[in-house]
Amino acid sequence: MSHKVLVTATNYSKLCREAKALFEENGWEVVENTFGRPMTFDELKSRVGDIDAVIAGVDDWNEAVFKIAPKLKVISRFGVGVDNIDVETARRHGIAVTNAAGGNSNAVAEITIGLIISAMRAIPQLHQTTRQGRWDRFVGEEILGRTVGILGFGNIAQKIARKLQGFEVEVLAYDKYPNQEAASRLGVTLATSEDVLSRADVLLMMLPSLPETRGFMNAETFAKMKDDAYFINTARGALVDETALADALSSGKLRAAAIDVYQSEPTSADNPLFQLDGIVTTPHTAAETFEAYRGIGLLTARAVLDVFAGRSPANLL
Ligand SMILES: NC(=O)c1ccc[n+]([C@@H]2O[C@H](COP(=O)([O-])OP(=O)(O)OC[C@H]3O[C@@H](n4cnc5c(N)ncnc54)[C@H](O)[C@@H]3O)[C@@H](O)[C@H]2O)c1
Repeated sequence: MSHKVLVTATNYSKLCREAKALFEENGWEVVENTFGRPMTFDELKSRVGDIDAVIAGVDDWNEAVFKIAPKLKVISRFGVGVDNIDVETARRHGIAVTNAAGGNSNAVAEITIGLIISAMRAIPQLHQTTRQGRWDRFVGEEILGRTVGILGFGNIAQKIARKLQGFEVEVLAYDKYPNQEAASRLGVTLATSEDVLSRADVLLMMLPSLPETRGFMNAETFAKMKDDAYFINTARGALVDETALADALSSGKLRAAAIDVYQSEPTSADNPLFQLDGIVTTPHTAAETFEAYRGIGLLTARAVLDVFAGRSPANLL
């Protein structure tokens, strides 16, 4: 009997050829997301009735969907964050949920470094003005000798810390379940969240989005930051109160910010953040590299095939 997998992650044929071939070699039918964006409930409704598995992007997978997908046995999340999946309810429906932990962490770590420098030297703004024939010789700041604070010291944060070693900075990190071994190995000082907030010249969000971490950065926590600090969020939009961030930027509390993720995605052109000068923005693109797509494509396909072969898949949540 052949199986059917719905892939709601985008660009599958283009960027995950090997993963698609792996499914097909194993006799699976692959149905792809042709919308180029997360699928809505109505779009899922007409496609989930006979699927056995999903390679899930960031569309919502919840009770309403599970009820109309009676054959669904595994949700293999094409990424790390599973805030779009109701994991508990999936479990009750007998649906296994896996993610691609680690699969895109290098991509996110690299762009985070890029965004720090972009914010400190206003590279995107200068790119725009130089192209317009202006010669705005913006005076930026250097990262050498600064303190970089990381909230959350998991997979990606540890990769960032390793890459930052060459920048000759002090790295402080806060984590609820601190990894002392990794901190020692990477020359990172573990600290309280208060310490990280108050001492960081550059603050990086690297927490997962959980009920307890939502809105972690709000008017109160921004107020605890150093004046003229930089704020970088390549983790999740829900971690940050965007109004408080806009206030911190417009009041001059923060010198600049770089943001890849938003409270609501895709965000629109009238987002107040976009009216501010000191902001560098990207459209939730931190994990978008050919290398990450290839690796995650294979990781998530193998997880589905493992479940159907009776093997325990990697990264079962
Ligand atoms: N922008 C993107 O495209 C993109 C891509 C991948 C991951 N991400 C996001 O990056 C973030 C980090 O990902 P990761 O792979 O490093 O995750 P991870 O799970 O490896 O690390 C998260 C860390 O946070 C800690 N933690 C959990 N709850 C906490 C709490 N309440 N307070 C303090 N610490 C807590 C954990 O102990 C862990 O060390 C996540 O939000 C993830 O969704 C974004």
